[in-house]
Amino acid sequence: MKRVNQIYHHPVFQKKFQALQEAEKNRQFCKHTLEHFMDVARLMYIYSLEHHLSASKELIYATALMHDIGRIDQIEMGIPHEQTGAALCDVILPDCGFSQEETETIKSAILHHRKAAQDVGNPFYEMLYWADKKSRSCFACDMRKECNWDKEKMNLEIDD
Ligand SMILES: [Fe+2]
Repeated sequence: MKRVNQIYHHPVFQKKFQALQEAEKNRQFCKHTLEHFMDVARLMYIYSLEHHLSASKELIYATALMHDIGRIDQIEMGIPHEQTGAALCDVILPDCGFSQEETETIKSAILHHRKAAQDVGNPFYEMLYWADKKSRSCFACDMRKECNWDKEKMNLEIDD
Protein backbone atom coordinates (compact mmCIF):
# COMPACT_ATOMS: atom_id res chain seq x y z
CA MET A 1 0.00 0.00 0.00
CA LYS A 2 3.03 2.24 -0.46
CA ARG A 3 1.38 4.37 -3.15
CA VAL A 4 -1.75 4.87 -1.03
CA ASN A 5 0.38 6.15 1.84
CA GLN A 6 2.08 8.48 -0.61
CA ILE A 7 -1.31 9.97 -1.50
CA TYR A 8 -2.12 10.63 2.15
CA HIS A 9 1.27 12.33 2.70
CA HIS A 10 1.27 14.25 -0.59
CA PRO A 11 1.53 17.99 0.18
CA VAL A 12 -1.42 18.90 -2.06
CA PHE A 13 -3.58 16.18 -0.51
CA GLN A 14 -2.62 17.35 2.99
CA LYS A 15 -3.30 21.00 2.15
CA LYS A 16 -6.78 20.23 0.79
CA PHE A 17 -7.52 17.70 3.53
CA GLN A 18 -6.55 20.00 6.41
CA ALA A 19 -8.51 22.90 4.88
CA LEU A 20 -11.54 20.62 4.52
CA GLN A 21 -11.35 19.48 8.15
CA GLU A 22 -11.17 23.10 9.28
CA ALA A 23 -14.04 24.19 7.00
CA GLU A 24 -16.30 21.37 8.24
CA LYS A 25 -15.34 21.65 11.92
CA ASN A 26 -18.79 22.89 12.92
CA ARG A 27 -20.78 21.13 10.19
CA GLN A 28 -23.79 19.29 11.59
CA PHE A 29 -24.41 17.10 8.56
CA CYS A 30 -22.06 14.30 7.44
CA LYS A 31 -18.42 15.37 7.49
CA HIS A 32 -15.70 14.25 5.12
CA THR A 33 -13.11 13.02 7.56
CA LEU A 34 -10.37 10.46 7.28
CA GLU A 35 -12.77 8.03 8.98
CA HIS A 36 -15.23 8.52 6.10
CA PHE A 37 -12.49 7.92 3.53
CA MET A 38 -11.35 4.74 5.33
CA ASP A 39 -14.94 3.51 5.79
CA VAL A 40 -15.49 3.92 2.05
CA ALA A 41 -12.25 2.05 1.27
CA ARG A 42 -13.17 -0.89 3.49
CA LEU A 43 -16.75 -1.03 2.22
CA MET A 44 -15.49 -0.96 -1.36
CA TYR A 45 -13.18 -3.86 -0.58
CA ILE A 46 -16.03 -5.84 1.01
CA TYR A 47 -18.15 -5.13 -2.10
CA SER A 48 -15.29 -6.27 -4.32
CA LEU A 49 -14.97 -9.56 -2.40
CA GLU A 50 -18.70 -10.24 -2.23
CA HIS A 51 -19.15 -9.56 -5.93
CA HIS A 52 -16.02 -11.50 -6.90
CA LEU A 53 -14.50 -8.48 -8.61
CA SER A 54 -10.79 -8.45 -9.20
CA ALA A 55 -10.28 -4.79 -8.32
CA SER A 56 -6.87 -4.02 -6.88
CA LYS A 57 -6.85 -3.13 -3.19
CA GLU A 58 -4.48 -0.24 -3.87
CA LEU A 59 -6.80 1.19 -6.52
CA ILE A 60 -9.75 0.88 -4.13
CA TYR A 61 -7.98 2.68 -1.28
CA ALA A 62 -6.64 5.36 -3.64
CA THR A 63 -10.15 5.99 -4.98
CA ALA A 64 -11.64 6.19 -1.50
CA LEU A 65 -8.97 8.64 -0.30
CA MET A 66 -9.46 10.88 -3.34
CA HIS A 67 -13.25 10.72 -3.80
CA ASP A 68 -14.22 13.66 -1.57
CA ILE A 69 -10.97 15.62 -1.38
CA GLY A 70 -12.40 18.13 -3.87
CA ARG A 71 -15.05 19.18 -1.38
CA ILE A 72 -12.91 22.02 -0.08
CA ASP A 73 -12.95 23.59 -3.56
CA GLN A 74 -16.71 23.12 -3.68
CA ILE A 75 -17.02 24.93 -0.34
CA GLU A 76 -14.62 27.72 -1.34
CA MET A 77 -15.42 28.13 -5.04
CA GLY A 78 -18.77 26.44 -5.63
CA ILE A 79 -17.38 23.94 -8.15
CA PRO A 80 -18.95 20.44 -7.87
CA HIS A 81 -16.55 18.32 -5.82
CA GLU A 82 -16.47 15.40 -8.23
CA GLN A 83 -14.95 17.76 -10.83
CA THR A 84 -12.37 19.29 -8.50
CA GLY A 85 -11.59 15.85 -7.07
CA ALA A 86 -10.97 14.44 -10.55
CA ALA A 87 -8.71 17.40 -11.36
CA LEU A 88 -6.74 16.82 -8.15
CA CYS A 89 -6.14 13.22 -9.27
CA ASP A 90 -4.06 14.57 -12.16
CA VAL A 91 -1.96 16.60 -9.71
CA ILE A 92 -1.48 13.97 -6.99
CA LEU A 93 -1.65 10.46 -8.45
CA PRO A 94 1.21 10.58 -10.98
CA ASP A 95 3.53 11.81 -8.19
CA CYS A 96 2.58 8.69 -6.21
CA GLY A 97 3.41 6.29 -9.02
CA PHE A 98 -0.06 5.70 -10.48
CA SER A 99 -0.08 5.12 -14.21
CA GLN A 100 -2.18 7.18 -16.58
CA GLU A 101 -4.59 4.26 -16.98
CA GLU A 102 -5.00 3.86 -13.20
CA THR A 103 -5.43 7.62 -12.79
CA GLU A 104 -8.15 7.65 -15.46
CA THR A 105 -10.00 4.77 -13.73
CA ILE A 106 -9.95 6.60 -10.38
CA LYS A 107 -10.98 9.90 -11.98
CA SER A 108 -13.90 8.31 -13.80
CA ALA A 109 -15.16 6.62 -10.63
CA ILE A 110 -14.99 9.96 -8.80
CA LEU A 111 -16.75 11.79 -11.63
CA HIS A 112 -19.60 9.26 -11.43
CA HIS A 113 -19.83 8.86 -7.66
CA ARG A 114 -22.80 11.15 -7.11
CA LYS A 115 -25.21 9.34 -9.36
CA ALA A 116 -26.43 5.78 -9.36
CA ALA A 117 -23.80 3.72 -11.08
CA GLN A 118 -26.42 1.35 -12.46
CA ASP A 119 -26.96 4.12 -15.02
CA VAL A 120 -23.34 3.79 -16.02
CA GLY A 121 -22.91 0.02 -15.89
CA ASN A 122 -19.37 -0.06 -14.55
CA PRO A 123 -18.77 -2.28 -11.47
CA PHE A 124 -15.91 -0.10 -10.18
CA TYR A 125 -18.08 3.03 -10.25
CA GLU A 126 -20.94 1.10 -8.68
CA MET A 127 -18.63 -0.03 -5.89
CA LEU A 128 -17.72 3.57 -4.97
CA TYR A 129 -21.31 4.78 -5.20
CA TRP A 130 -22.56 1.96 -2.97
CA ALA A 131 -19.75 2.28 -0.40
CA ASP A 132 -20.10 6.07 -0.18
CA LYS A 133 -23.83 5.80 0.57
CA LYS A 134 -23.51 2.77 2.86
CA SER A 135 -20.86 4.48 4.96
CA ARG A 136 -23.40 6.81 6.57
CA SER A 137 -25.38 5.84 9.67
CA CYS A 138 -28.54 7.85 8.96
CA PHE A 139 -30.53 5.77 11.46
CA ALA A 140 -28.46 7.30 14.27
CA CYS A 141 -28.21 10.85 12.91
CA ASP A 142 -29.94 13.76 14.66
CA MET A 143 -29.87 15.79 11.42
CA ARG A 144 -31.85 13.24 9.43
CA LYS A 145 -34.96 15.42 9.15
CA GLU A 146 -33.02 18.40 7.79
CA CYS A 147 -30.80 16.32 5.49
CA ASN A 148 -31.33 16.81 1.76
CA TRP A 149 -30.65 13.16 0.90
CA ASP A 150 -33.62 11.35 -0.64
CA LYS A 151 -35.25 9.10 1.93
CA GLU A 152 -34.62 6.13 -0.40
CA LYS A 153 -30.88 6.78 -0.21
CA MET A 154 -30.80 6.95 3.57
CA ASN A 155 -29.63 4.05 5.69
CA LEU A 156 -32.59 3.98 8.04
CA GLU A 157 -31.59 0.71 9.67
CA ILE A 158 -28.54 -1.49 10.05
CA ASP A 159 -28.38 -3.90 7.15
CA ASP A 160 -25.78 -5.73 5.10
FE1 LIG B 1 -18.11 10.41 0.33
